[in-house]
Amino acid sequence: MFDQKVAELLNTQINKEFYSAYLYLHFSNFYAEQGLSGFANWYMIQAQEERDHAMLFVRYMQNNDLKVTFEAIDRPDADLKDNMDPLKAGLVHEQYVTGLINAIYEAASDAKDFRTLQFLDWFVKEQGEEETNASDLIKKMELFGTDAKGLYMLDQELGGRVYAAPSLTL
Ligand code: FEO
Repeated sequence: MFDQKVAELLNTQINKEFYSAYLYLHFSNFYAEQGLSGFANWYMIQAQEERDHAMLFVRYMQNNDLKVTFEAIDRPDADLKDNMDPLKAGLVHEQYVTGLINAIYEAASDAKDFRTLQFLDWFVKEQGEEETNASDLIKKMELFGTDAKGLYMLDQELGGRVYAAPSLTL
């Protein structure tokens, strides 16, 4: 028998990951409006990664014969005014997601659900990387973003990001 609380948290996480994709598309739109196509590209790819995360949770639930229930995805709630706002909101959001992953991990641990713990290990590592990437972007923007040439170079750099499928497959 699969633990009910773990199953519910896994199902909720699907919605959270799709919301993350929606939030990052919102950031991508913001930067596209500013003419910063590199930043827009970076968050477009970030959104693709979040969709991948959602799909991994869907697949994991399907593989374990768990019922998947889709709920409405919230409207992105970040109020964006300047070029730093998405970066700071992104870090806060990733810290929030880390907390969600940790809560599922804790519930799976309490339930001695070793299969789910192993599945979640990838996400624990991924969240570490996501937080590092988000805080690195803030540091770079603080260093270079206030100067027009620096911002241009940073936009060029972020424009070079290419999509890579997740290393976890189910
Ligand atoms: Fe799916 Fe950025 O955490």
